Amino acid sequence: MKKFRTSERLVDQLSVDQLTSYRAWLQYRPIGNHAYSQEVKESLSEIIVETRDEVIDRTLAEIQLALAEMINYCPAIHSSAISTRGLYLKINPDYQEEAFTIKTEEERLILTGGTSRALLYGTFHLLRLVQQEQSLKHLAIEEWPKNPIRMINHWDDMDGSVERGYAGRSIFYDNYQFIKDRQRIHDYARLLSSVGINAITINNVNVHQVETKLITDTYLTDVKQTSDIFKLYGITLYLSINYASPIEIGGLDTADPLNDQVREFWKETAKHVYQAVPELGGFLVKADSENRPGPFTYGRNHAQGANMLAEAVEPFGGKIIWRCFVYNCKQDWRDRTTDRARAAYDHFVPLDGKFNDNVVLQIKNGPMDFQVREPVSPLIGGLAQTNQLLEFQITQEYLGQQRHLVYLIPQWKQVLEFDTFAKGQGSKVKDIVSGELFNNHIAGIVGVSNIGKDLNWTGHTIAQLNLYGYGRLIWNPDLTAEQIANEWIKLTFSHDSKLVDTLLSIVMPSWEIYENYTSPLGIGWMVNVNHHYGPNIDGYEYMTWGTYHFADRKGIGVDRTLKTGTGYTGQYYPENRDRYESIEQCPDELLLFFHHVPYTHVLQSGKTVIQHIYDTHFKGVEQVKSMIKLWESLAEFIDTQRYQEVKERLEHQLWSAKEWRDIINTYFYRKSGIPDQHKRTIY
Ligand code: GCU
Repeated sequence: MKKFRTSERLVDQLSVDQLTSYRAWLQYRPIGNHAYSQEVKESLSEIIVETRDEVIDRTLAEIQLALAEMINYCPAIHSSAISTRGLYLKINPDYQEEAFTIKTEEERLILTGGTSRALLYGTFHLLRLVQQEQSLKHLAIEEWPKNPIRMINHWDDMDGSVERGYAGRSIFYDNYQFIKDRQRIHDYARLLSSVGINAITINNVNVHQVETKLITDTYLTDVKQTSDIFKLYGITLYLSINYASPIEIGGLDTADPLNDQVREFWKETAKHVYQAVPELGGFLVKADSENRPGPFTYGRNHAQGANMLAEAVEPFGGKIIWRCFVYNCKQDWRDRTTDRARAAYDHFVPLDGKFNDNVVLQIKNGPMDFQVREPVSPLIGGLAQTNQLLEFQITQEYLGQQRHLVYLIPQWKQVLEFDTFAKGQGSKVKDIVSGELFNNHIAGIVGVSNIGKDLNWTGHTIAQLNLYGYGRLIWNPDLTAEQIANEWIKLTFSHDSKLVDTLLSIVMPSWEIYENYTSPLGIGWMVNVNHHYGPNIDGYEYMTWGTYHFADRKGIGVDRTLKTGTGYTGQYYPENRDRYESIEQCPDELLLFFHHVPYTHVLQSGKTVIQHIYDTHFKGVEQVKSMIKLWESLAEFIDTQRYQEVKERLEHQLWSAKEWRDIINTYFYRKSGIPDQHKRTIY
């Protein structure tokens, strides 16, 4: 049997176990159930396809590969039917571009899609069913993505490092060059398209000196070749650009968006870039954020900055994705009036309706910064006349850096299901970012990548689930976290019910477990400076980044109320504003985000804040111990490599959780002087 398609060099070096890690959820394990494999063989005995293009060619290759691996059968491909059986691939221009249906009609399976990309998605859907051994006899599937843009952002730098990357170096670059062997990119594009991702940026939003030249002849050939690979899988490539490019590479002394020479520079640059890469999606911009250049330098606002770029790419159908992660990172910690959480809303709501049609704002999940627990950004719902994308972080910067097992979908589900009340009750985030509620024509979701050169892509094997789940969830936000995990476990490991149930019981509560032993009640941060790993309660307390907990001997928390605090609660619609403003109604898990309270304040749970801190930290460590026991019970079901890798990381997680527990508990005990009711060890 043919080996799995990956770079020859890689295959030669890989053991069977390593190959298993590499395949992630596209295992295509041989199907042992004879009756079922017979059913698949009959349903897919031949493939009929009338038109061909490069995406359809990938689709056909995928079916052949999957069937060869799963049932040792290679269906023939015809342009018209030979028998009454087989899989019929059809394009129907009346369908939405990415929509597909899979229907059983007599003995035949009909997969119809709006475009060849939809056929690719439909094929992966079908193959997922086969991998889960679901009957193909009475299919009546109708699928279309909720979110038009389903994007991944890479924070890869061209020296080969990945900002906030925890899975090895970049698969794109090394030593300021593109890596010539592009097989990893092929395999990655295939993984992404299998879960419906349709857009990608390949360089960090922090665009440094060399990366600024990605839009010049120095690198455009490489950009084109990379784009060509993603194109095979229906994925549109975008580039992050440096707002100061007119100065850095254009020889001008300004990047003022209203300056004629600057405007001309961008028009010429866009023309040149699109000549080289006509299919480019557009540019992503981080401006006036964390020391990046932007229009503020010239006394201009972000609409002026974004629209100038939008005009330059508009003739080529390009888009400008403009990030809203704009705040003062040089704040004085003594100044209690400046509130970082307010910044995105304060900057962008006054500009609502002022952006060109081909501009879309990218709004970070969490008004602060991808913390363990934050309220939903009030900018979502706050913007009624502006295209917008929601930004999640798949890479686990503040969530254990892929050394801790944390399943992120439950967190994202809460965000998507959140009711903003923007247009009355039922104005959920998922319907805003999909473009439906405000009729935006550019809309969707972006996630910061968690992959790197590690053979299993994500460092922690279980972190593969976050990438898989991200794609599945943003295709269909109505899937539950449990459904997604269930699918992934079956595809990645096996169908054995003990394995599935046990692994589900490990992943499902893992976000809450992580929250238990780290920062409590929505306060956030308390991590080591710069690398953001491990506990350091005052690490950011006297810094310029706006990230404070204000703990003293009496209490803790940030007063963000209208009445006595920073007024942040006023950025929400009345229903949420009032709930957050009220100390009694504010949900416990967000209490310290919104209020400064004494340690003796009694939560809705009936516990005091200080006792809650002690209890959750002791509990979190015990929960990690249980996770390890559960994992150990799976040894017989999992190959040695993946089993051991996860086990080692879990052991590290336990060590780290104890550090968190003891440092947090000790800190607050020493601050407050209030002992633990249960007299457990605090240092
Ligand atoms: C976080 C992260 C940075 C990143 C920034 C961003 O602050 O720590 O590394 O550049 O987010 O989203 O731009």
